[in-house]
Amino acid sequence: MSGFPSFDYRDGELYGESVQLSHIAQEFGTPCYVYSRAALVAAYKKFDAAFAGRDHLVCYAVKANSNLAILNLFARLGSGFDIVSGGELQRVLKAGGDPQKVVFSGVGKQPDEMRAALTAGILCFNVESEAELTVLNQVAGTLNKTAPVSLRVNPDVDARTHPYISTGLKENKFGVPFDEAEKLYASARKFAHLRISGLDCHIGSQLTELDPFVEACGKILDLLTRLETQGLTIDHLDLGGGLGIRYSGENPPAAQDYITALCSAIGRRSQRILIEPGRALVGNAGVLLTRVEYLKHTPHRDFAIVDAAMNDLMRPALYDAYHEILPVIANGGGDKIYQVVGPVCETGDFLGHDRKLALTQGDLLAIMSAGAYGMSMSSNYNTRPRAAEVMVDGGRIHLIRQRESLEQLIAGEKILP
Ligand code: LLP
Repeated sequence: MSGFPSFDYRDGELYGESVQLSHIAQEFGTPCYVYSRAALVAAYKKFDAAFAGRDHLVCYAVKANSNLAILNLFARLGSGFDIVSGGELQRVLKAGGDPQKVVFSGVGKQPDEMRAALTAGILCFNVESEAELTVLNQVAGTLNKTAPVSLRVNPDVDARTHPYISTGLKENKFGVPFDEAEKLYASARKFAHLRISGLDCHIGSQLTELDPFVEACGKILDLLTRLETQGLTIDHLDLGGGLGIRYSGENPPAAQDYITALCSAIGRRSQRILIEPGRALVGNAGVLLTRVEYLKHTPHRDFAIVDAAMNDLMRPALYDAYHEILPVIANGGGDKIYQVVGPVCETGDFLGHDRKLALTQGDLLAIMSAGAYGMSMSSNYNTRPRAAEVMVDGGRIHLIRQRESLEQLIAGEKILP
């Protein structure tokens, strides 16, 4: 048992649904991201069903994995989308997403991105500062449109996650300070080209406890009461994303328990509820397939040098994140402790430290839980073309992104005349 439902062993071989991962490596090469359609659909449905009839919209956070096939799959299920750039908007539209189910988050929206979103007719702008309100009002005015807005409020709640992905503390750059929110809503009301639509917060990512969500939710509801007392109408509450997944030992709440906790905190209020999950929808629906290039034994350490690197999966290097690493052909476990590293010229280029494995040159490994913030954070560092992406669906295999070629990688560059 791998512990990852859609990627499990059969007769000693790791499969993605009904497809041998070794077969994918043979056909498409490595490094290669492999996603499971069934896992994506199941994760979405868990969230959607958990609302049990209550008016809601699941807005998938595109940044977690923005491949068009994945966006299209969620769009077909009726998903909305949380975007943070004009580029993500284009992807959503191209993938068949409904613009009226799109919320636009982010601290640094540019006027041309606002223009594109207004023209597409998105559901809401999650505005993060007073200055942004002013610019959005101007841009909407020039288009003769009214921009629907929420203020993203920073509730000053400790999400108890990695500091780089904690966003709801008062010292973070995100949202408007909780104590200034009422004043800002009052000034937002005065802008001719803005219409107040919602109230938004997002406190961080990879949260493994319910308490911080419930605490933030409580604060947001207090604020909602005060805003309503002042005569404001708030159509929806956007409670952000952030639900964690199991990478190894974590035990995050189930989607159902998380949504039930939010809904019961909200009680009988009539507002539509939006959430913006990213990782919880895609994280455990993907693996990164890689091949052992060399084994290198030094007096101090045993290294497995694989063909995936920090440019393909940045999370270990950036956050010291842990991803399970499994052999594609089970071999009974090993007795050697390996440092699983990539070919990039940095000591920080590792995929896993101190992993007990039995390895030979040429073996295939699966880096687990790589569906979220894997490909979407990849780069071309060391002039490494980006990996291929494949989706399995039962016994079928779909190439959803070709491996990048070196020609594509340098296509935009020019030498001096
Ligand atoms: N909404 C907003 C406004 C966000 O900033 C984020 C993530 C989400 C929703 C989705 O959060 P999720 O459900 O995926 O936790 N690169 C990091 C994660 C960065 C998260 C940034 N914001 C990682 O690899 O762990």
